Amino acid sequence: MDFKTDPRFAGIEPFRAKIWLATPTMHGDEQRWVDEAIRTNWVSTVGENINEVEKQIAEYVGCKYAVALSCGTAALHLATKLAGERLYGQARPNAGTLQGHRVFCSDCTFDASINPVAYEDGEAVFIDTEPDTWNMSPEALEKAFEIYPEVRLIVVAHLYGTPGKMEEIKRIADAHGALIVEDAAESLGAKYRLGGQWVETGTLGQYNCISFNGNKIITGSAGGMFLTDSKEDADKVRKWSTQSREAAPWYQHEEIGYNYRMSNIVAGVVRGQIPYLTEHIAQKRAVWERYEKGFAGLPVKMNPWDREKSIPNFWLSCLIIDEDAMAPMVRGERDYLYKTEPGKSSPQEILDALAAFNAEGRPIWKPMHLQPIYRTHAFVTAEGNGRGRSNAYIAGSGVDIGADIFRRGLCLPSDNKMTPEQQDAVIEIVKRCFECR
Ligand SMILES: Cc1ncc(COP(=O)(O)O)c(C=O)c1O
Repeated sequence: MDFKTDPRFAGIEPFRAKIWLATPTMHGDEQRWVDEAIRTNWVSTVGENINEVEKQIAEYVGCKYAVALSCGTAALHLATKLAGERLYGQARPNAGTLQGHRVFCSDCTFDASINPVAYEDGEAVFIDTEPDTWNMSPEALEKAFEIYPEVRLIVVAHLYGTPGKMEEIKRIADAHGALIVEDAAESLGAKYRLGGQWVETGTLGQYNCISFNGNKIITGSAGGMFLTDSKEDADKVRKWSTQSREAAPWYQHEEIGYNYRMSNIVAGVVRGQIPYLTEHIAQKRAVWERYEKGFAGLPVKMNPWDREKSIPNFWLSCLIIDEDAMAPMVRGERDYLYKTEPGKSSPQEILDALAAFNAEGRPIWKPMHLQPIYRTHAFVTAEGNGRGRSNAYIAGSGVDIGADIFRRGLCLPSDNKMTPEQQDAVIEIVKRCFECR
């Protein structure tokens, strides 16, 4: 389809400079700390920038220790490994700590959240999503413990910067003696009210992780952190991330090691960004609110959050199309097809329209239980086993909230540097998708 000649889009000009989903925002302070590292020759994986960002992030988040690592995925790997070792003991060097064990995992997330379970030879069991915050469903988690009562580990992510129902999830975890790996990669700066007290995401599990990936709320160009109140765990992650050296005059190893430490250059970028975290959150919130206002009257809703118990960091703004305004759309493994219908649209049509006018959106994370690599893994919904629920001889089929959000939702251009005028133009493109010809 050619959107530029489609009469629905008459008068709309493509953006001269591309409007991105989410890009880094440098302020200049980053240069100072990177230059300082180079000037003093501290460019490796030790140095003042690393010490400083560990101190500042621990203070900001409200935990005792922050360990700076090369990326959020590395933090999640070592967090998952720590949990596996605590639960099941030290593994042989050629085996993962979760071998032979199932782990309950967020389903609607980036695969980096849950791949570390496989790195450690564990088997992810995917827990369906709830519609109120688009995160792990406590009801489905409860069901999962009925089916797999032996499970002792939960990996939970906060989607797009919106905290999940952590009070309920923590209660269920405690009732079953399970540990939590918290993936706060997308939600640094988001707050949650736990037992009447406001706390930051990144403090809600036994093992907590954040990311400074280039598209995150603040960035180091790359980088991530492991966050904890346990000195022993922080020391272990530091050791593992620097090749697991023992206290010997030579390279002596009793545990498998990794090269996962953050460099002092990357830490310099993070150090320059930290003072701007609250500013970025305010900008992202303004973007989310402008969309919400702009879409009034359209058959769409914004990504939801619990206004009593959470304050997201609004990392990505998303929309979901009302069921009765969904035009037909099918997705294969790598391709898709949709029809336009008066007054209706679909995520792929909106994404194509945005792309035609030089703006970047993105589908919602495709749920993990639908991913070819994890297609044979168990999936649990609020109704119980989520696999094989339909019946050729009986009408009706089971719920799958994550698949529904993936089908009807999309991530909007959410760059904090988008001007109100540019955002209004994005809103206008979305509106025109629903127009009658
Ligand atoms: C939910 C989630 N988990 C983990 C990661 C991995 O972080 P990193 O890219 O820093 O490895 C990301 C993003 O990249 C993410 O969005």
